Amino acid sequence: MNFFHFRGGELYCEDVPVRTIADKVGTPFYLYSASTIKRHVRVFAEAFSGIDHLVCYSVKANSNLAVLRLMAGMGTGADIVSGGELHRAMKAGIDPSRIVFSGVGKTAREMELALEAGILMFNVESGEELQTLARVACSLGKTAPVAMRVNPDVDPKTHPYISTGLKKNKFGIPVTEALALYRQAAELDGIRVAGIDCHIGSQLTTSDPFGEAVMRLMDLIEKIEGEGIPIRYLDIGGGLGIIYDKESPPLPADYAETVLKALGNGNRTLILEPGRVIVGNSGILVTKVLYRKKGATKNFVIVDAAMNDLIRPSLYEAYQKIVPVRESDETREITDVVGPICESGDFLGRDLRLAIPEKGELLAVMSAGAYGFSMSSQYNSRPRAAEVMVMDSRFEIVRERETYEDLIRGERFFEE
Ligand code: LLP
Repeated sequence: MNFFHFRGGELYCEDVPVRTIADKVGTPFYLYSASTIKRHVRVFAEAFSGIDHLVCYSVKANSNLAVLRLMAGMGTGADIVSGGELHRAMKAGIDPSRIVFSGVGKTAREMELALEAGILMFNVESGEELQTLARVACSLGKTAPVAMRVNPDVDPKTHPYISTGLKKNKFGIPVTEALALYRQAAELDGIRVAGIDCHIGSQLTTSDPFGEAVMRLMDLIEKIEGEGIPIRYLDIGGGLGIIYDKESPPLPADYAETVLKALGNGNRTLILEPGRVIVGNSGILVTKVLYRKKGATKNFVIVDAAMNDLIRPSLYEAYQKIVPVRESDETREITDVVGPICESGDFLGRDLRLAIPEKGELLAVMSAGAYGFSMSSQYNSRPRAAEVMVMDSRFEIVRERETYEDLIRGERFFEE
């Protein structure tokens, strides 16, 4: 459920016509519905209300400060993967004692910053990383709370680029090696074992792989605790899918039921790292039609947003619905919606059935709140889009559109 809807043939975000914002802000821009985000956080957290848990929103999905501020206001923690994300989370007021740090390549500097901040837990992904973390912690006179990210070798049945819990993926520690690493961690100065972690992939549309992963972790926990190493936190990552098209992902309550069943009893805090399910359908990308043209075999609608703004269609061949901001009863035709970038891979949608919009009309790319702006770039020297947030009948620019000066910031000539 989200707060984008048509009223009198015009697309609204909550109580604001999308067109009103476009007139004021120009295009392209990302548009986020604060009420949708808050609702998604609430529904997700409520699904787990029966047990001790902590929701750590996965910052990479959408790291705009205004979005993170909503999380902070709701007492949500954060799952971060870089010093930059730590910086953003702290700026937004997220409590560091609710931050977990994931990722295969944390640098010593990033570890230092996170230790200084006093985060809840490092999700460690290799023996070498563990050694580095121990050294960094000792040099600061601190103890780093850790979980091992275990790779449970479960097939999430999602796009290969975003499945992470298979043996062949670079993520995590093989189940077979985890116990040995826990023994080592328990002995290391500067390290305190706090939990166990996994994340099997993103955009999962069935619950079973989650249940499977949790069961494998539970087996492992039994062995680890059997050696007198207590596991306080069980972090099961993110990955719950959303509806882009015809998917039917489980509701948070069904997902929770599967997880809780696999979990059994135990005196642990469950950590969840949802990203897409919170913000994906809370945002759209609004773009303007520049030109239409008929190619030899198909129609093209050329818009002012491109793969630098939203790379998911190009990178994953991901489908994102595109709708006209003003409903149209023109007959629909098969068309590609493409951007101005000089690559054939620059499309937002291919072979869509769309009423061909007028030049100057607005289109909305739906389900763009997750991995939209956060994966954007300046390719072709295109300033990044503005970001706007709506709550009820009010809207604010939460990130200015970049300028040409922003494009060259920090660059200088090489004097011969
Ligand atoms: N935790 C960890 C350790 C992760 O690596 C991820 C996502 C999440 C949580 C959040 O997953 P979510 O709930 O959003 O599925 N760019 C791709 C998605 C990459 C996901 C990377 N990891 C896309 O646009 O589909």
